[in-house]
Amino acid sequence: MLETTHFLDIDDLSADELETVLDRAAAIASGADGARLEDKTLGMVFEKPSTRTRISFETGMTQLGGHAIFLGPDDIHLGRGEPLSDTSRVLSRYVDAAMMRLFDHSDLEEIAKYADVPVVNGLTDDAHPCQTLADLLTIRAEFGGFDGVNAAWVGDGNNVAQSFVVGAAMAGLDVTVATPDDYGIDDDVIAHAAEYGGEPTIAETPEEAVADADVVYTDVWISMGQESERHEKLAAFEGYQVNEDLLSGMDAKVMHCLPAHRGEEISHDVLESDRALVWDQAENRLHAQKGLLVELLDE
Ligand code: CP
Ligand code: NVA
Repeated sequence: MLETTHFLDIDDLSADELETVLDRAAAIASGADGARLEDKTLGMVFEKPSTRTRISFETGMTQLGGHAIFLGPDDIHLGRGEPLSDTSRVLSRYVDAAMMRLFDHSDLEEIAKYADVPVVNGLTDDAHPCQTLADLLTIRAEFGGFDGVNAAWVGDGNNVAQSFVVGAAMAGLDVTVATPDDYGIDDDVIAHAAEYGGEPTIAETPEEAVADADVVYTDVWISMGQESERHEKLAAFEGYQVNEDLLSGMDAKVMHCLPAHRGEEISHDVLESDRALVWDQAENRLHAQKGLLVELLDE
């Protein structure tokens, strides 16, 4: 049984629990673990769009014998001013767990504070821990473990990057990061990764970051909610595209949480090449979240 009630960021799990969730996910994926969530309902609240998160959680609940309810921004009163605390307490009276994709991480913390059921972060502006579970599952399957594997993060030090570097530190995966000035990973997050003995190495350039990489990870430059910063960010990220020039002479694999913007953070050729682990990554969202849900609901 997990110590935590909620999964707001990756370090709500201990390092041992992270391994337990990954093992459970792999066992469910292989058919060796027949865990069921019969008659359990997952409420899914989305303030932002989603392809993978919405479909993988909903499909995962169906496959486990349960049910998921999609609640978009226009479907519930949260968007019309019903307080977070009221929404949370009411949801808790109906569903067995709630998955939320919100803008402000502090809103998610407020929801969790009032919830009597597990709350799972489906992405906030600060963190994307369900993505990290899938990322680690993908790397473990590809390289047979984390020891001696070098990952490079090239691009925005955003929500996906922040959960990834902490999860990597917990798992024992080495990470080198290259981000433009003013778009780095928060100092607090770097310090937190260091507490797990996995402080990321900060590189001056993308070339330096990928030099010893087994896998290179990137994400969009313009995250959801940042559309008005597009012009400024495109200028700041010049030279940070993951493309064949950057990877020339290397066998490195490439990861991207998707959706990808071909021609911005990643080239079409790289995304369509044998380097890309992105489709396994996307599939692993399903397995990872099933592992998480059965562990959180103690089944
Ligand atoms: N990677 C990810 O969370 O994708 P969606 O935005 O499609 O859910
Ligand atoms: N950084 C991206 C991730 C999308 C899954 C965003 O927040 O839009």
